[in-house]
Amino acid sequence: MNKKYYITTPIYYVNDKPHLGHAYTSLVADTVSRYKKLLNNDVFFITGTDEHGQKVEEAAKKDNTSPKDFVDKVSKQFINMTKSLELTNNDFIRTSEDRHKSFVKIIWKKLEKIGDIYLDTYKGWYSVRDESFIAENEITINKNNEKVGPSGDILKWLEEPSYFFKLSKWQNKLLQFYSDNPDFIKPKSRYNEVIKFVEAGLQDLSISRTSFSWGIDVPGSSNHIIYVWLDALFNYLSVLSDENKMEKFWPADAHIVGKDILRFHAIFWPAFLLSANLKLPHKIFAHGWWTINGEKMSKSLGNVIDPLYLTEKYGIDQIRYFLLREIPFGEDGNFSEQSLINRLNSDLTNDLGNLVQRVLSMIIKYNDGKILDRNKMDSKDIQQLGLPEENFKKYCDLMNNFEFSNALIVVWSIIRKTNTFVDYKAPWKLFKEDKDKLNTTLNILINTIYKINILLQPFLPISTKKIFKQLNVREFYDFTYIKNEIEVGSKINKPQGVFPRI
Ligand code: ME8
Repeated sequence: MNKKYYITTPIYYVNDKPHLGHAYTSLVADTVSRYKKLLNNDVFFITGTDEHGQKVEEAAKKDNTSPKDFVDKVSKQFINMTKSLELTNNDFIRTSEDRHKSFVKIIWKKLEKIGDIYLDTYKGWYSVRDESFIAENEITINKNNEKVGPSGDILKWLEEPSYFFKLSKWQNKLLQFYSDNPDFIKPKSRYNEVIKFVEAGLQDLSISRTSFSWGIDVPGSSNHIIYVWLDALFNYLSVLSDENKMEKFWPADAHIVGKDILRFHAIFWPAFLLSANLKLPHKIFAHGWWTINGEKMSKSLGNVIDPLYLTEKYGIDQIRYFLLREIPFGEDGNFSEQSLINRLNSDLTNDLGNLVQRVLSMIIKYNDGKILDRNKMDSKDIQQLGLPEENFKKYCDLMNNFEFSNALIVVWSIIRKTNTFVDYKAPWKLFKEDKDKLNTTLNILINTIYKINILLQPFLPISTKKIFKQLNVREFYDFTYIKNEIEVGSKINKPQGVFPRI
């Protein structure tokens, strides 16, 4: 039986349209999904939208639209983004759907029955932008003398009846869990950050609001609505509500999130699950932020880039490649169109594109497109032919560790060595001097390209298909084919530039 793999993105707030930050997390999750499929895992990949809460209600008001119509409208833009980016998500969950709302109510009753929910009054500060209760020691004062939270959002004072979740009760269990599962939170620096926070002491968490109404009613107390984070986190389970899926896919193998929402995923989420007596996910990976001139790209700061503008201008694979290659996953990175162009021209056009184009053109020119057999190989030939297989384990280890940029560096080292091999062998000379050596060289080259292309499928799903087509082979090969070779005697198609220079 195939191994299962369940991966998620955050569900995005629908207070505004998607931007490059959202596209980034979704493209990363899609790359992992495609990679796991190449290992023949049974993958379930979900994304979706977070549609309740004060922030969304306020955005609807500003738009002069009812919350329902507003979330329908904005959610559509997120659905469109997943389609435009050609993501392979298996489902798209919206928290305004009945399947989600009824699941969250069941969970609420479960936590209540266990005795982890009690009624009191919340008195304290609240960040609407982050939908987060802010403790006194996290508050700073901005230049206008206003109290702001960690994200810079001006805080509101709340004083309202509220149900609380006994988060403090789970503090020791959580610490024990982190210590037993050192890979639960990645990267390591984030793991340490979470432990420090929990060790400092957890307060019980307000989990209902009464001063507005856009959300899921608390069962039996309809003047309260369920706190949007308790509502939202359970999307990862409500999307599996169908019994078979729950049994097969839960617990999640990886929740990919930005570092802004680490605390919700690494502390509240496992505490809710422990309380509900459900299994905990295997991994929370909190990545860094794309910044513009050093500032986080965000809807509230108004410095966002439309991912569809970029993909239409440069291509989907091109944007995927840049985002995954440019910064080590986990770290922040500054976005600029110039660095995008430089990266695409140097890696995709000069290195990969050039290699494919020149090798295919030579096979057309010298052998009428036919792949001929190898004869005797010298040590350089043997070394060259072995490159993809030899690096395959390294590549997989890095991919399993979510080191996408390093995995690409490994593939690019093969590509660069292959380009050097072409120059060293100089097939244009062999054509005149030694036909056997020419055929051997071209055979080695075409098979190296074929194998490089197998490795690149998770990153460049559209372009690798085009390259396979030019090789006149199938459109997709899983990793069991890494030792395979193209049939001798078969004929390639005429090459066409896959990565035009920008
Ligand atoms: O937090 N760089 O939704 P959200 C990189 N609804 N990634 C970025 C980014 C940036 N500048 N800006 C946003 C929410 N992201 C909640 C989640 S989950 C149960 C509920 C990405 O619309 C990143 O993944 O504010 C970040 O965590 C997420 O979008 C926040 O999206």
